[in-house]
Amino acid sequence: MTAAPPPSSEKIRVLCVAGARPNFMKIAPLMHEFARRADRFEPILVHTGQHYDQAMSDSFFKDLGIPEPDVNLGVGSGTHGHQTAQVLMKIEDLLVEREPHVVLVVGDVNSTIAATLAAVKLHIPVAHVESGLRSWDRDMPEEINRVLTDSVSHWLFTTEPSAEENLLREGIPSEKIHFVGNVMIDTLLTHKARAQELDTLERLGLSPGEYAVLTLHRPSNVDHAEQLAKLFEVLGRLNREIPVVFPIHPRTAKTVAENLGGVTPDLHLTDPLGYLDFLRLLTDAQMVLTDSGGIQEETTALGVPCLTLRESTERPVTVTEGTNEIVGTNPRDIEAAIQKLRGGLDDRRKDRGKRPALWDGEAAVRIVDILERDVLATRDN
Ligand code: UD1
Repeated sequence: MTAAPPPSSEKIRVLCVAGARPNFMKIAPLMHEFARRADRFEPILVHTGQHYDQAMSDSFFKDLGIPEPDVNLGVGSGTHGHQTAQVLMKIEDLLVEREPHVVLVVGDVNSTIAATLAAVKLHIPVAHVESGLRSWDRDMPEEINRVLTDSVSHWLFTTEPSAEENLLREGIPSEKIHFVGNVMIDTLLTHKARAQELDTLERLGLSPGEYAVLTLHRPSNVDHAEQLAKLFEVLGRLNREIPVVFPIHPRTAKTVAENLGGVTPDLHLTDPLGYLDFLRLLTDAQMVLTDSGGIQEETTALGVPCLTLRESTERPVTVTEGTNEIVGTNPRDIEAAIQKLRGGLDDRRKDRGKRPALWDGEAAVRIVDILERDVLATRDN
């Protein structure tokens, strides 16, 4: 670690970066933990503005009680190069101005790698939360972001054992790696009871256990009209058996509008939902079909069957211990997996999988403990 440690009269300034929807549920428990230790920490929350809509961003701050960001960089949408460069340039100025002792980044989005790169070039140590996950698919932009962020971070906080193995294989020294559990599951456990009280199912006309939830936004599934049309055909057939609720991501909505000739998929479409409504929906779903990373973990924590419409997962513990099954993107395989799952529902209801080690609601506490210990150790030496 090369940044100057804080003098004993100063609090530890941690600049926390969040940019896109899946970051917000990860940053929330960390902000709460820093607030609990306000005598020792001074968090600076930066929203890069990668996601900016009410539905993709603002509602999450409200639902999860995340404080107003200290700074919003307002970068918005753009190509990968443009978006990453905007965050990199704007955050560099901010780091020079605020002089944090630590930069904390979460997940694998473009904002994560951009903030990391700006920080390490200024010799500010980076803490990467949700480190070491690997899909081994370098066509995914998130995989590039993960590998690069991990290679230059100072603290690598992991969620599952596979992550540590991956990092060691990449030559990361073991003393930088800390298995702390899953901050996203901290958030889920904090809000589950509150979500359960919502009337989400009634509002959408659903009965518990009698509907499926679908999310799709990966470029490999939604940017090609032909692939998307085939997926909708299979999922439309399921929708004739049980309602398939599909909160539609803006990227998918765009492809549907532009490429599918205005054809509306035969599914129960909704706008993107807020965190609590979506959690309510997941909790009582008969099955979840998704290409998201985080939802594979949330369904495992809830014990709900999940079919992942991708060729690989960077979260293998959700398969080996949890309720996740990787079914690929071939429509025929997806249909077969759906029918197999529906045929064995009684067994699946009994076998709700196992919640992985340290997915216990205490990950943020462990992370902040380690940061405090290590930063104070450099001051005391
Ligand atoms: C990003 C992340 C992905 C994450 C996903 C969750 C990267 C490389 N990808 O992908 O890992 O799973 O967020 O949603 O960082 N848009 C809006 N409103 C918004 C945000 C986006 O309309 O608030 C639209 C824009 O048309 C934009 C498109 O969605 O061009 C894609 O947004 P972008 O942030 O570039 O990537 P995602 O596909 O959302």
